[in-house]
Amino acid sequence: MSEIYVVVSGKGGVGKSSMTVLLGRALSKMGLKVLLMDCDIGLRSLDIILDVQDKVLFSWGDAAQDICELEQAVVEYDGLYLLAAPTSLPKGFCSADLRKIIDSCAEDFDYDYIFLDAGAGIADNALLAMGAADKALIVSTPDNVCVRSVAAAADKLFEIGMDAEDIRLIINRFDKKSAVSGKMLNVDDVIDSTGVRLIGAVPDDEEIELCLHRGLALPKGSEAFKAAMRIARRINGEEIKLRIK
Ligand SMILES: Nc1ncnc2c1ncn2[C@@H]1O[C@H](COP(=O)(O)OP(=O)(O)OP(=O)(O)O)[C@@H](O)[C@H]1O
Ligand SMILES: [Mg+2]
Repeated sequence: MSEIYVVVSGKGGVGKSSMTVLLGRALSKMGLKVLLMDCDIGLRSLDIILDVQDKVLFSWGDAAQDICELEQAVVEYDGLYLLAAPTSLPKGFCSADLRKIIDSCAEDFDYDYIFLDAGAGIADNALLAMGAADKALIVSTPDNVCVRSVAAAADKLFEIGMDAEDIRLIINRFDKKSAVSGKMLNVDDVIDSTGVRLIGAVPDDEEIELCLHRGLALPKGSEAFKAAMRIARRINGEEIKLRIK
């Protein structure tokens, strides 16, 4: 049975799409079958980050409207699977409609994990994906504005019926030096302010940023990839000690 995660944030630009790709790659390197579903309607980016934009002929929106078969919309890249987001959706399209597509994917292709990369914020676009998932990863950078928006995102998830047990926090672009000097919040501050359980922290990493921008393979030795790998193993049920670098 597939585990279905939505990757959300309150504030935009904090690394949801990057995290979706990093975790997808990490889990697929562990031999698991992973589908990344871009749910940022009109502003998709996973195809660019994965450098498969030329291979995308259809979106999951096309499959939902019977313009193509679902399998025609799935793009495979280096053992990882992608469904691109549509540029728009028919009026009234809701989370239950999205869930039907997800369930078909899960049934027909037997994915271990399906990650929904939500759009920024906690309104329409993001709510669509939130309502179609079973579990959530909330991404935050270690600054006050973003941290406040995590609590708002968590409240939305509770409102739509998700259990606290199924919601985890990822601190992205963490920089220990800035935390020590007080320029950025430290991990305890973030956990205390959000009340969401931490699953891992990913360091700010120039190398990973370059790779994500150019669709390049991620350097396995990079601290960001290693951090994503640890989060992936925790998602997959391993007991891994939290290491904040
Ligand atoms: N750990 C990291 N270290 C360095 N740069 C990062 C890291 N994570 C993300 N970035 C960079 O931050 C920028 C925003 O990332 P991304 O597009 O993944 O955010 P997002 O939350 O999906 O944005 P949006 O809300 O617009 O969908 C990108 O340039 C990405 O390369
Ligand atoms: Mg994004």
